[in-house]
Amino acid sequence: MSYRLLETQTDEQFVEQGTHVLIESVSHCIKEKNRCFLGLSGGSTPQPMYEGLATSKWIDWTKVSIFLVDERYVPITHQASNQRMVRESLLAKIKVSEKQLLFPDTSLPIDECVQQYESALATLLQRGVPDIVTLGLGEDGHTASLFPPLTDDALGSRLVIHTETERFAVRNRISLTLPILEQSTGRIFFLAGHKKKMLWEKMLDAPKDIVRFPAQTLMDEKTTVVTQW
Ligand code: 6PG
Repeated sequence: MSYRLLETQTDEQFVEQGTHVLIESVSHCIKEKNRCFLGLSGGSTPQPMYEGLATSKWIDWTKVSIFLVDERYVPITHQASNQRMVRESLLAKIKVSEKQLLFPDTSLPIDECVQQYESALATLLQRGVPDIVTLGLGEDGHTASLFPPLTDDALGSRLVIHTETERFAVRNRISLTLPILEQSTGRIFFLAGHKKKMLWEKMLDAPKDIVRFPAQTLMDEKTTVVTQW
């Protein structure tokens, strides 16, 4: 059994389908576990799905803990901040307390930021693995902020690491590692656009090589992929 692929034909269908999968996954998780540890990726693609999630009447937000799959090492006010995007698109529209939220504190020096975030996440995950994580795919094959070729620590026993990229605007990142993403109970990829289609097909055709294509190891029965290209 492999991943569930939901192909849409228009932007509207993509957002509608992606939002539906997200709401369905969170609601089902709360029904099954009376809680939901929800990890959100950043970037531009998932933003309308987070706005859609905020409109759901079926989610008891008191049961949800929200954390970031990755973050750019910028102030929270910066346009590229994933925390800013998640607060504006989702959190501003639902009733959650700050105690339910885990974000890297990017006002700290990067190593302290990573250490503090990893410690907070480890405390949350003492009660179980991530229930649902949303993920994207970069044109270079990265997912979360795990940029190919992956370093050993991206594949190691840490929960959270500092990564760097020369290719994208914000060089320094904070990212969950691949093993914790693999342990997640449910994963939802939102992929849109021709460049992503090219990368996606190249990844699927390539021999397994998670250093080059980390997302390859996340394509299993726990994963739903929503596409529009
Ligand atoms: C980030 C994301 C990253 C994203 C891809 C795709 O912080 O940038 O977590 O992994 O999913 O880069 O980004 P877009 O959705 O903006 O294309």
